[in-house]
Amino acid sequence: MSALAVIVLAAGDGTRMKSARPKVLHEIAHRPMLGHVLDAAAALQPQHTLVVIGRNMDAVADAAAPARTVVQSPPLGTGDAVKVALAALGDFDGDVLVLVGDAALVRTETLASLLDERRRAPEAAVTVLGMRMPDPGAYGRLVLGSDGSLEAIVEARDATPEQLRITLCNSGMIALDGRHAAELVGAIENKNAKGEYYLTDVVAIARKRGLACRCIEAPAEETVGVNSRAELAVAEATLQQRLRAKHMAAGVTLVDPTTVYFSADTVVGRDTVIEPSVVFGPGVRIGEGVEIRAMSHIAGAIIGDGAIVGPFARLRPGTELAAKVHVGNFVELKAARLGEGSKANHLTYIGDAVVGREVNIGAGTITCNYDGFLKHETRIEDGAFIGSNAALVAPVTIGANAIVGAGSVITRNVPADALALGRGQQVEKRGAARVLRERGAAAKRAKAKERSKL
Ligand code: UD1
Ligand code: CA
Repeated sequence: MSALAVIVLAAGDGTRMKSARPKVLHEIAHRPMLGHVLDAAAALQPQHTLVVIGRNMDAVADAAAPARTVVQSPPLGTGDAVKVALAALGDFDGDVLVLVGDAALVRTETLASLLDERRRAPEAAVTVLGMRMPDPGAYGRLVLGSDGSLEAIVEARDATPEQLRITLCNSGMIALDGRHAAELVGAIENKNAKGEYYLTDVVAIARKRGLACRCIEAPAEETVGVNSRAELAVAEATLQQRLRAKHMAAGVTLVDPTTVYFSADTVVGRDTVIEPSVVFGPGVRIGEGVEIRAMSHIAGAIIGDGAIVGPFARLRPGTELAAKVHVGNFVELKAARLGEGSKANHLTYIGDAVVGREVNIGAGTITCNYDGFLKHETRIEDGAFIGSNAALVAPVTIGANAIVGAGSVITRNVPADALALGRGQQVEKRGAARVLRERGAAAKRAKAKERSKL
């Protein structure tokens, strides 16, 4: 197999997104579009990966790392972009795979097929990833010869009415034989409707030199680019469907798949059950046999085997639940580690906390972790019991097997095995309720009498 260089075109500014952010940094399933493209390419194990960016696109360069970036300035068209990249590659003569930064849903297998097609004897100088578009609009059209080989790509603005009726279109993803690439791309001119150097011209140029060109067809769902917010939403929906299918195939139960939203990096162990309306932000790792109950929002969290989370739970970044932890309704956790078998089942906020094993945290418990200036840590050691509606004012430590009485405000450390009560004393006055009630009734009667005199 010959060596591979991947070039990703991302110098355009994507004006139709109406955004301050470069187009390829818009996210699908919480991963930038460029990241999806680079991931699909990385699985092909290329020797070189080069992203073509515009001026002032440092953020794109950061997102591309560790892939190299090369700046194309000014952007004179896709042909010019590839020329800039080839110059940066030096005398590389393996396969050159050109991808576009906004075609984020392309699969590795499809790219591998495109490369196989290029290498298939007789080897082609250019192979193009085509897509069938019932309404081809502005896409370049693939003009085929009678033998099915590719004769030319014609941009819509430069096409004849007859060519405009072609529905087989250019996805923008193209594989080139590196032995010819520099020469073919170097021969591209800009005599066209847009005055740009069109990469697509390499097909006609190669044909003129007697070199073979071919195309393969991939599902449009994988190949269409994202140019607007509406197309971004379509891509999101497509990727969510794929992620749901992937997790179910790996042994995860989704009770109502279309209502569960994954991140591209969500990891879920088998026999985990995810109930309806659950949203996963980035950085979530879930073990096996976990129950994620309805209406939960989970981001940046690690959840151990056999844990139960929700309904209506919110796990924020830095949450780590050991095996068999229970986190119930209206519980919010942030930067909190809960040891095996611990439970926080109702109406609680635990932030910046380390909680041991078999700890029971009562309803309404709050770790007061923020004093208006700094965050402080709460430690609750193994086997402790925190009564309902306790406020634990951090920094504070509750020792092992200690009990905190309900309604306590705890401002000092509690030693192991101690009972801590931090609340007003209860007082009873015998018979006082009856006295109060009689006094009240008498006052009411007196007032009614006054009024009847008027
Ligand atoms: C291009 C193709 C068209 C194809 C369509 C698929 C050409 C001439 N046309 O058209 O046949 O159907 O993609 O989406 O190639 N870019 C640069 N530098 C430049 C210009 C563009 O890096 O100077 C990048 C853009 O950021 C983008 C990609 O190349 O990622 C495609 O450029 P764009 O201007 O969107 O090309 P289209 O007109 O859509
Ligand atoms: Ca485009």
